[in-house]
Amino acid sequence: MEQYVIKGGNSLVGDVEICGAKNAALGILAASLMTDESVIIENLPDVSDINVLIQAMESIGAIVEHLDRHTVKINSSLISSQTVDSIYIKKIRASYYMLGSLLGKYKRAEVALPGGCNIGSRPIDQHTKGFKALGADVKISHGRISAQAEKLVGNHIYLDVVTVGATINIMMAAVMAEGKTTIENAAKEPHVVDVANFLNSMGANIKGAGTDVIRIRGVEKLHGTTYSIIPDQIEAGTFMFAAAITKGDVMIKNIIPKHLESISAKLIEMGCEIEEFDESLRVVASKRLRQTHVKTLPYPGFPTDMQPQIVAALSLSEGLSVVTESIFENRFRYVDELTKMGASIKVEGNSAIVQGVGRITGAALSAPDLRAGAALVLAALAADGFSTVDDVVYIERGYEDFPEKLKSLGAMIEKVSTEQELTKFKLKVG
Ligand code: UD1
Repeated sequence: MEQYVIKGGNSLVGDVEICGAKNAALGILAASLMTDESVIIENLPDVSDINVLIQAMESIGAIVEHLDRHTVKINSSLISSQTVDSIYIKKIRASYYMLGSLLGKYKRAEVALPGGCNIGSRPIDQHTKGFKALGADVKISHGRISAQAEKLVGNHIYLDVVTVGATINIMMAAVMAEGKTTIENAAKEPHVVDVANFLNSMGANIKGAGTDVIRIRGVEKLHGTTYSIIPDQIEAGTFMFAAAITKGDVMIKNIIPKHLESISAKLIEMGCEIEEFDESLRVVASKRLRQTHVKTLPYPGFPTDMQPQIVAALSLSEGLSVVTESIFENRFRYVDELTKMGASIKVEGNSAIVQGVGRITGAALSAPDLRAGAALVLAALAADGFSTVDDVVYIERGYEDFPEKLKSLGAMIEKVSTEQELTKFKLKVG
């Protein structure tokens, strides 16, 4: 089984380049199906969630040409089916974006129900509410969700909860609907804006993305485009916390500092220095981190996808911190793993009460999901001695070359798949 083996103790120092945003890329790839003309997408991260979605797109007839590691050319003129039932698709939550894009273009779509990270119940009622409001008939049976319509007609849709997925999905379904659609209480995440900008570059008429009211005027068809995906806010945030937890000094490059404000603000409260540049940001942590309290919130609040990483860092801080998760109900499953390392954390309802300790020690760990897996790696980098992290497939769903990037900053980490490789690494780093 593949695992990461890590010896903690080195401060991370140097520069790291951040990839394109996975969650924007998932929406953009699905949206690329909406034109018969060719689309070129640049700055695509090479992570397994993206590759699974590309395979699903190919399974219905899209032609995807890899121009280089981070650039694809997609032609969807020969799509022969609107039923996505690939064995891969259940693995990733974003499979549901093909529902919105195929419904928007072909007025029918059928997709296996989404999988993804196990971080609590993940309803799709707001997606279906939006599709129905546009005139689609939506059914769920035999593990699939189908939506079809004679025609889609714009409508006024108020989302009962702020949801990224439903906002993007409804936006895609509405771009070619007749007339005007308004999405109220829309999500404002940078990747919502990126998908809207991408659709607009294909000829859509979407206004207000990035605010809580998005207005869409339906257009007849979309055309080809070349588009570069925004940098990944969460990958960047993870490296910022990697610098903080290891008392390091890291320049995070190819980012949009504005998207990282909530993360930078917390790191400053915790005693780090942050220096901002146009497209990069430097995190310097020279002393023990301080406690803070944090609650996850929709953008521009502190992202739920950074919650495990901040808990890992706070477990080594001075004082008592309370971290409240307000987006997903089951997102503290990794806490038991941190406890194995000597962290002192108690989960009460949707809060983790973290009593900072002076040191944590290496242990055999398992990644329970994508972001928690990354957080365990961060903890291992700061722990005394060796750790192993199993189930790295979760981490590889969203982080490109994670061990290599950490290694380039001075971390002692290796991906191994045999006992011999593990022993060899231990002998090498001593
Ligand atoms: C996306 C991100 C995920 C991130 C999350 C919140 C992708 C592929 N994934 O997930 O990494 O953690 O945003 O920033 O972009 N909800 C409903 N009904 C719905 C849809 C959602 O009640 O129909 C609820 C969810 O249970 C959750 C909240 O809304 O409590 C936010 O979920 P949402 O923003 O939709 O998350 P995802 O789009 O699945």
